[in-house]
Amino acid sequence: MSRKILVTSALPYANGAIHIGHLLEYIQTDIWVRFQKMRGHECWYVCADDTHGTSIMLRAEAEGITPEALIDRTYGEHVRDFSGFCIGFDNYYTTHSPETKEFAEQIYGRLLEAGLIEKRPVEQFFDPVKEMFLPDRFIKGECPKCGAKDRYGDNCEVCGAAYSPTELINPYSAISGAKPELRESEHYFFKLSDPRCEAFLRRYTAPENGVLQSEAANKMREWLGQEGESLLSDWDISRDAPYFGFEIPNAPGKFFYVWLDAPIGYMGSFKNLCAKIGLDFDEYFKPDSATELYHFIGKDILYFHALFWPAELANANFRTPCKICVHGFLTVDGVKMSKSRGTFITAESYLAEGLNPEWLRYYFAGKLSNSLEDIDLNLEDFVARVNSDLIGKYINIASRAAGFIVKRFDGELSAADSSLPAFQAIQEAAPRIAEFFENREFSKAMREIMALSDIANQYVDSVKPWELARQAGAEALLHQSCSHAINLFRLLTILLKPVLPALAEQVEAFLKIDPLLWRDVDSLLPAGHVIAPYQHLMTRIDPKQISALIEANRESAPAPASAAASLPTEKTASEMVGIEDFLKVDLRIARIAEAHPVEGADKLVRLVLDIGEEKPRQVFAGIKSAYDPAALTGRLTVMVANLLPRKMKFGLSEGMVLAASGGDESGIYLLSPDDGAMPGMRVK
Ligand code: 2FM
Ligand code: ZN
Repeated sequence: MSRKILVTSALPYANGAIHIGHLLEYIQTDIWVRFQKMRGHECWYVCADDTHGTSIMLRAEAEGITPEALIDRTYGEHVRDFSGFCIGFDNYYTTHSPETKEFAEQIYGRLLEAGLIEKRPVEQFFDPVKEMFLPDRFIKGECPKCGAKDRYGDNCEVCGAAYSPTELINPYSAISGAKPELRESEHYFFKLSDPRCEAFLRRYTAPENGVLQSEAANKMREWLGQEGESLLSDWDISRDAPYFGFEIPNAPGKFFYVWLDAPIGYMGSFKNLCAKIGLDFDEYFKPDSATELYHFIGKDILYFHALFWPAELANANFRTPCKICVHGFLTVDGVKMSKSRGTFITAESYLAEGLNPEWLRYYFAGKLSNSLEDIDLNLEDFVARVNSDLIGKYINIASRAAGFIVKRFDGELSAADSSLPAFQAIQEAAPRIAEFFENREFSKAMREIMALSDIANQYVDSVKPWELARQAGAEALLHQSCSHAINLFRLLTILLKPVLPALAEQVEAFLKIDPLLWRDVDSLLPAGHVIAPYQHLMTRIDPKQISALIEANRESAPAPASAAASLPTEKTASEMVGIEDFLKVDLRIARIAEAHPVEGADKLVRLVLDIGEEKPRQVFAGIKSAYDPAALTGRLTVMVANLLPRKMKFGLSEGMVLAASGGDESGIYLLSPDDGAMPGMRVK
């Protein structure tokens, strides 16, 4: 049965560049949307720039341009970057639009009618020079807990304390430097604490309702508290002028807070698409709509999407989202993206350095699952995985067979034998792979597709076309085996098409076929079908391209020579940690009680560590290239004892041992304490 689905990704702010952290989400959503379209469903993917708020207003002012000019420029940059990564929006719009304004006013009006809007005075810091109220992030001062200077108004990155801006010592405006004054002003609140909202949200976010992944549903239970506990507070939806946004009807000088109109921008963008191509907006947004609405978001904005947004919609007589698909954050080589490390990689720089966007799409697909866990872009693994899977396995099938078909048989295929086990393996796996795509278990889909590529390659290895080509009288066999290989390649292309749309398009041109749909997996190319000469489809990643990309993104640091690339560089203040943060890491002397190789993992050693606890810890360490497990038993080292346990394919890893490394070729050196240290001693 054909479905009607509307899909969104979070709207990026209109004052910053798209980076690989953003791309994780757009690629995830785009793969899902392309899969639905290939299945023959009516699926619309809309997004927009998130254009309002103080930051955008001040940024424009600093550049000496109007906010409109800033958001116009950013819009062009965003559209360019998204199209560079094959993100196939059906509409990319802006929240600074008549449609979004109209819906914001309509929703606000309906909430007002329902008695869910309340006016209340709020005391807030005011910058007397700039003549504006200051958002928390624009007030600085000394931390009330640890005294650190130049801290933001909401929390201290030195000691981790959270507080309100009025608690800062010697506060000053981060905009003008002036001493802020406390002033009172009327604010508008959405009454989330109203029993109607609470009752609705309990039902809506309940795990059995299926809107949220279980981890997200758990978070909701935490936020909502026990029945009757009423933990929800009302939400301040207004900001005072000067503000770049929509003025609230009948409230001169008061504007909708950017987070009020941002999700409404999903509706605005879709409404704009409906007008362009003649779709029925109401069919998608009426309360009893039979269509589906999916929002893809990062876990940092779950609160806005699972509480405020559905509560607004439900009380303003619109449908609510069917699913809120939440993903984790992106790390690069295991840590937060960092400008000084050069891992804050912009979409623009990636494309400018000549890297293929589909390499990243494939790598992310190989890591994405239906969970909130963070995803790591390990740069070494990125090169290895793309080269071995995409080039070594998938492309290899076509490149080994296409030449013979074109040179020896004028490009014409022979009849394929549909009972070939490799065809059957793919056709039998396709529904399972479709389920994985549907459930956003892309990593499982990729693993299965690569296993099928192995089967296809084993077939080519077994028939050896290059030998048949030299044998007299083996013409028919050569023709058939190469035709089989081309057919196998076509089937695998169907399965990979949601992830690699540009490559699939090249393959369609090479095979001279119509755009591939999912159902095409059940058929083979007929005898006599003619293909085009083989053109190179994808190159391998050269590790030098990655180094160049990192250098291009490294801020303020001269390029370090040679292997020193991974040695520490000077840290910016935001990358320093205070002693309190350091002490959070519980380092202990550990005795390696046992050390074993791990079957199926070339790099890992399984360690059993004694740190003086009743039960020893199991830790998997990537030190196999440097140590023979047998030689490790009995040795003392240092372990992180309070690292969250990690479930790995081979078992639970309950910590981490410390080792030094200077980069790729320089080896791994396990730390050892001086004589006299005992298992369980704290290291600090
Ligand atoms: O967090 C952000 O980047 C916001 N601009 C996301 C908005 S998503 C939606 F609500 F509009
Ligand atoms: Zn502090």
